[in-house]
Formats: sequence, C-alpha cells, structure tokens
Amino acid sequence: MFHIKPFLDALSTSKLAIFGAVLVTTAIGADALLIVGELLIFESNPYIGIIAYVLFPGMAATGLMLIPIGMLLVMRKSHRDPVGKLIRRVRRKHVFQLILVLTLINLIIFAFAGYRSIHFMESATFCGLTCHQVMSPEYTVYQRSHHSEVACVECHVGPGVGWLIKSKLDGTRQLAGVILDNYSRPIETPIHNMRPAEHICGECHSEESYQGNRVKVIQRYEPDENNTRTFSIINLQLGETSNEDQTMRGIHWHASKDHEIRFWSLDRRREQVIRVELTDEHGQKRVWTRPESAHTPADDGHQDDGQQDDHQNMRVMDCVDCHNRPTHVFLPPDKALDDLLADGTIDPTIPWIRSLSYELITQTYESDEQAMEGIAQLPALYHERFEAAWDLYADKLEEIVPVLQDLHSTYIYPEMNIQWNTYPSLIGHPTAHTSACFRCHDGVLVDAQGVGITNDCKSCHFVLAEDEQDPMILKLLEAQP
Ligand code: HEC
Ligand code: HEC
Ligand code: HEC
Ligand code: HEC
Ligand code: HEC
Repeated sequence: MFHIKPFLDALSTSKLAIFGAVLVTTAIGADALLIVGELLIFESNPYIGIIAYVLFPGMAATGLMLIPIGMLLVMRKSHRDPVGKLIRRVRRKHVFQLILVLTLINLIIFAFAGYRSIHFMESATFCGLTCHQVMSPEYTVYQRSHHSEVACVECHVGPGVGWLIKSKLDGTRQLAGVILDNYSRPIETPIHNMRPAEHICGECHSEESYQGNRVKVIQRYEPDENNTRTFSIINLQLGETSNEDQTMRGIHWHASKDHEIRFWSLDRRREQVIRVELTDEHGQKRVWTRPESAHTPADDGHQDDGQQDDHQNMRVMDCVDCHNRPTHVFLPPDKALDDLLADGTIDPTIPWIRSLSYELITQTYESDEQAMEGIAQLPALYHERFEAAWDLYADKLEEIVPVLQDLHSTYIYPEMNIQWNTYPSLIGHPTAHTSACFRCHDGVLVDAQGVGITNDCKSCHFVLAEDEQDPMILKLLEAQP
C-alpha cells in the first residue's frame, strides 16, 4: 500500500537528498548494531556511548534534514518539482501515510537515543572520562571520596530548567575550550558560577546531620630515624542549637539560615578578604574591615586581576567556602603519607622510611613516567644511604614502590599542572597555600569597635592533645565502646 518507488524517484532527483538518505540509513543501521552490542556484550564505555548516543543520532538527524533540503534546492534550481511529482504520482492520502509512518519511526528512534544520551551524559563516567585529560584528576579523587555515589551533575548541574540551560551553555563553551585546547591548566578554582550550596548540599544534608561535637584524632610521623608517631586530638564544635533562643552556635553557625554572611575579596581565589558583613535575622548589620595599613593587594604577589569590581568579588558565604573539597580531595603529601603509615600499608618500623618516601614523592617530575621511574629508585637509594639496615628491609622496600607510585599518580597530574597543594582544603589553620578559616578569623579584620572576628581556640574546638607521643586522653577514648 505504500508507494515507495515514487518516493525513491523523487529522492533521486537530488544528489544531496540521496546523500542524506544514505546517511540516515547507515547511521541508524550502525547505531542499532552498536546499541544491541553495548547492551549485550560490552561494558558501558564512554567512547561507545558518545558514538551510539551522540554521534550516530546526530548523523541520522543531519541526514534527515538533508532530504527535504536537497529536494527543495532541485525545485528552486531547475524548476523541477520532485515533491509535486511525488504527490501527483501517488494519491495524496498515501503520501501522508508514508510520511506519517516514517516520522513515527524516526520519533521513536530519536526519543530512545535522546533519552539514552541525556542519561549517559549525566553519568560520572561521561563527565570523568570524556574529557579524559581535563577531568581525570577530579574523577580519580572523587572515586575515593564519600561522594563517589553522587553523580557529577547532582552537584554541578542540579535540577531546574534554568540551571540546566546555563550549565549546557557553559558545557558547550568548555567543550569548545577542550577542542581548541585553550582551557586553563589547572582548572581555576573556586568555580565562580556554581549554584548556591544550600540547593546542592541541602538536597541530602539537613542541619541536624552536621551538628554536635566531632572528636578528631590526627596521627603524624616525624621525618626521623624512628618515624616517631605523634597524636593531636581535637574536639570540633560542629554546632548546636541552644535551647534558650533557638539559635545555632559553633562552626555550622555560618551555615544557619537565620543570617547571611557576605564577604569581599581582592582576588578571584577569595583569599584576600577585605570586608565581612553579617546580617542577622532582624536585619541588623555588623561589619568587619581590614585596616588599609595591614594589607595592600601587592603584599604577597597575588595581584587583583583588575577586571573585578567590588560587586563581583562579593560572595554570600555558603557550605563550599569551607567544604571546597567535599569530593575532589587532593591530600597534601605529608597527610597522604601519614595515612599510609597509620593504616600499616607502609610499615612504620622501617627506619627513615617516612623521610625518604616524602623526599621521593615531592620531587618535581616532568611527566608521570618520569615520576614512576624516580620513585622506583627507593630501594637503591635506601641501600646507598642506610646500608646497615638494607638487608632487613629489602623485600618490604620493593613492596612500597608501587604504593608510592599509586599515591603519586592519584594526586599529581603534570599534564594539567596539578602538583601537591594545587587544590588545598579551606578547612583548618593557615598553610603556605591558603589561609583557610583564618582568611576571616585572623584577628586583623575588625569591627567599628576594633574587635576582631573570633580567633579563640575554644570557639572552634577543644584541644585535647597537641603533638603528643602517648596522650592520656587517647587511652580514655579507646576504652570507650
Ligand atoms: C558532592 C558534590 C560534587 C560532586 C559529586 C562532584 N563535584 Fe566537582 N566540584 C565540587 C565542588 C564543591 C568543587 C569546588 C568548587 C570551588 O572550589 O569553588 C568542584 C570542582 C570541580 C572541578 C574544578 C577543579 C577542582 O578540583 O576544583 C572540576 C573539573 C570538577 N569539579 C569536575 C567534577 C566531575 C568530573 C565530577 C564527577 C566525576 C564531579 N566534579 C563531581 C562538587 C562536586
Ligand atoms: C546526593 C546526595 C548528596 C549531596 C548532593 C551531597 N552530599 Fe555530602 N554526603 C552524602 C552521603 C551519602 C555522605 C556519606 C555519609 C557517610 O559516608 O557516612 C556524605 C558525606 C558528607 C560529608 C562527611 C564525609 C566527608 O567527606 O568528610 C561532608 C563533609 C559532606 N558530605 C559535605 C557535602 C557538601 C559540602 C555538599 C555540597 C557541595 C554535599 N555534601 C552534597 C550525600 C550527599
Ligand atoms: C565555616 C565553615 C563551614 C561551613 C560554612 C560549613 N561547614 Fe560543614 N563542616 C565544617 C568543619 C570544620 C567540619 C568538620 C570537618 C572535619 O571533620 O575535619 C564540618 C563537617 C561537616 C559534615 C560532617 C559531619 C560529621 O559528623 O562528620 C557535614 C555533613 C557538613 N559539614 C555539611 C555541611 C553543609 C551541608 C554545609 C552548608 C549548609 C556546611 N557543612 C557548611 C565547616 C563548615
Ligand atoms: C568569610 C569569612 C569567614 C570564614 C572563611 C570563616 N568564618 Fe567563622 N565566622 C565569621 C564571622 C563573621 C563570625 C561571627 C563573628 C564572631 O563570632 O566573632 C564567625 C564565627 C565563627 C564561630 C563562632 C560562632 C558562634 O557564634 O558560635 C566559629 C566557631 C567559627 N566562626 C569557625 C570557623 C571555622 C572552623 C572556619 C573554617 C572552616 C571559619 N569559621 C571560616 C566569618 C568567617
Ligand atoms: C576559626 C576556627 C579555629 C580557631 C580559632 C583555632 N582552630 Fe585549631 N583547628 C581548626 C580546624 C577547623 C581544625 C581541623 C582541621 C582538620 O580537620 O584537619 C583545627 C585543628 C587544630 C589542631 C589539630 C590539627 C593539626 O593539624 O595539628 C590543633 C592542635 C589546633 N587546631 C590547635 C589550635 C589552637 C591551639 C588554637 C588557638 C591558639 C586554635 N587551634 C585555633 C580551627 C580553628
């Protein structure tokens, strides 16, 4: 009942339309094979995904568009009228039937491909592996974090049409950056166009979930012969709601919805805070400013890029101003090593192992291969320096090599210029890489009365032990069930 032949005749009047038709059929045919293959045989793989759900459907759609365009071009150029001819040759009803059926088939194919492609593009595999070199650092450390089950898009895109469109536009710009190879290495943080964190983190974390006290036991190993272990133990005041006035106190006081903290900084990294403004639930304002004399932009080499006015550098404080590393946790080298010694992956009874390991992993290597070779020198270097101890530990040293190599390739990406401490956490005391909490709590930012933002140890935590080898309090903690 369908008159295919007249349709083919009409099609054959235009080379472009023929090309379009060939494109549609091959793309759909090949895609069908690939999808069946993917569902039955292969593991989900980002490259197959891109071809099956983005590239082939794109080709098919282009082909489909070329068919009418080709026919129309012939019509305009040669006064031939393939569409009219088609309609005249076949009864009008049949032409419409044919078009209807073909359109329906196309709709089904595209709906399926579209659904799968959106689904696929939102998967962590796509985000983490598609732009392999660009995102692999974030993907690698993300997989080790507490949020490895949370899809990239839940934090970076989020629900709602507005943010979706915005992020797709940003995404397109970023993709162009990757193709044209002009993105920044490393990727700059903080991310200036992230959604307000209450919409991101608030989806899963309620105020109750981060209140109370948190005892933290921090183990360190000294770079000496015995790798001497010390403990620092603090009790962090995460937050509590007081019974009298129902206001939140403690560290998560900043995140309470009752008030708003705005801060202004001189640089895009938001390190040089010059003004902090607190608006409480009654609309009362309290302002802290940095006395001019104590800080000028040129102080420490970070220059304002000159493009940001005060307004753009203003920021409403939210979770990410402390939790800037909730999932992309790039540990500093000392902490990364101490963790391995603490859990026994590296045996802390090997003399000098902490110091030598640190030396090897913190050298600057040009490439990943060079780093692997450099770290593989551990046994040889140990032999050279500590010949007396060598015999006892030769086997263990061989086993430590892959551990340190793995550590290095988890955190260091020479091709993205990511070295140790490129992405420091903003939680804690000042280091050479960030002033963290003390961007504001340094006692230099003062209000009209000259009172600084608190830097009293006890408002943030009780210090139960500081760099002690055998703290009494640890025994008490361990005795607890
Ligand atoms: C739990 C929420 C969360 C998830 C899940 C998440 N991210 Fe992030 N991401 C963040 C935050 C927060 C930042 C840092 C923002 C800042 O410092 O301004 C960030 C920063 C980044 C950056 C900038 C470089 C950097 O390290 O700061 C990249 C690239 C990135 N994320 C990619 C990804 C990819 C790829 C995935 C999925 C594999 C992912 N993210 C999953 C929250 C998340
Ligand atoms: C889709 C849900 C989800 C979102 C969105 C989310 N989280 Fe989480 N978060 C979790 C889960 C699940 C855990 C793991 C709890 C555990 O392991 O005990 C967790 C753990 C944490 C922890 C404690 C563990 C750690 O790594 O220190 C922190 C801090 C945290 N989240 C902060 C954040 C911040 C900040 C954001 C927003 C940028 C965020 N989360 C967004 C689900 C989420
Ligand atoms: C002023 C800085 C700051 C802000 C703002 C902040 N947090 Fe925290 N948060 C902390 C610190 C510090 C800890 C303890 C970290 C540690 O254990 O090392 C913490 C711990 C947590 C934990 C883990 C709690 C536990 O019992 O282990 C969660 C979950 C969390 N925060 C979520 C959030 C969310 C969600 C927001 C935003 C609504 C937020 N935080 C805002 C500083 C902050
Ligand atoms: C952008 C500026 C800013 C940053 C960054 C910041 N704070 Fe604060 N913080 C304030 C202001 C403003 C106050 C209120 C003034 C005061 O209490 O002196 C405050 C108050 C506090 C309080 C007392 C809250 C109360 O009333 O019980 C604690 C505890 C605290 N901060 C801990 C932290 C910790 C821990 C960090 C880092 C993880 C941090 N802050 C980072 C601005 C900041
Ligand atoms: C603005 C809040 C704040 C103030 C004020 C503050 N600290 Fe801390 N401190 C922190 C945070 C947050 C951490 C936890 C860092 C982490 O999670 O690794 C910490 C960690 C520590 C640690 C253990 C971690 C380590 O690396 O050794 C010690 C010890 C410590 N602080 C001592 C002090 C002393 C002593 C004072 C007062 C002179 C003080 N702190 C003032 C926020 C503060």
